[in-house]
Amino acid sequence: MSLTRLLAIIAITLWGVTAAVFAALQFQSGPQMHAADRDLIAVSADERKFVLKEMRLMLESLQGIMMALEVGDNEALAEAAAGSGNVMLAALPPSLMAKAPKDFRVMAKGAHQGYARIEAAARKGEGKDKIISLLAEVLGECTACHDSYRFIDQP
Ligand code: HEC
Repeated sequence: MSLTRLLAIIAITLWGVTAAVFAALQFQSGPQMHAADRDLIAVSADERKFVLKEMRLMLESLQGIMMALEVGDNEALAEAAAGSGNVMLAALPPSLMAKAPKDFRVMAKGAHQGYARIEAAARKGEGKDKIISLLAEVLGECTACHDSYRFIDQP
């Protein structure tokens, strides 16, 4: 093998390794960089526990709504939505709301008001299209807030 050929193989191999390492780093740092972009809200252990419980209930409400929507059961749909609507709106933890940024408070209220609107629409006997468009609005609140904020432990 000539020296030129050997050098060419070494150069191509090195290029390949560099590209692979670069690709791996890019892939790894993507989501982390995204997470670091989110604003942090310092919460106590109780606040975190309370809010995450409500989050899981909101997800359950979504499941209930989808199941009721599929079979066209407006009563069940209203019930499922009610769980995350005005009841939760009234129970937003005051200590967290006092320190949370305005955007966070607006989106938190918006999500519960959205569920309340779904409940009202179901009780009025609105059709699937209306419910789906209200659902899309609620999901918009979920994703917007998750993209913007993250909890950290209060020191
Ligand atoms: C006002 C902001 C906000 C809104 C609106 C919001 N969330 Fe969250 N959610 C959060 C935060 C903050 C966390 C915690 C993330 C963390 O641990 O840093 C969270 C966590 C969660 C979790 C994880 C629960 C757990 O036990 O770990 C689920 C599930 C969830 N949200 C569902 C939803 C759904 C469904 C909606 C919409 C119907 C929604 N959230 C709307 C802020 C929000």
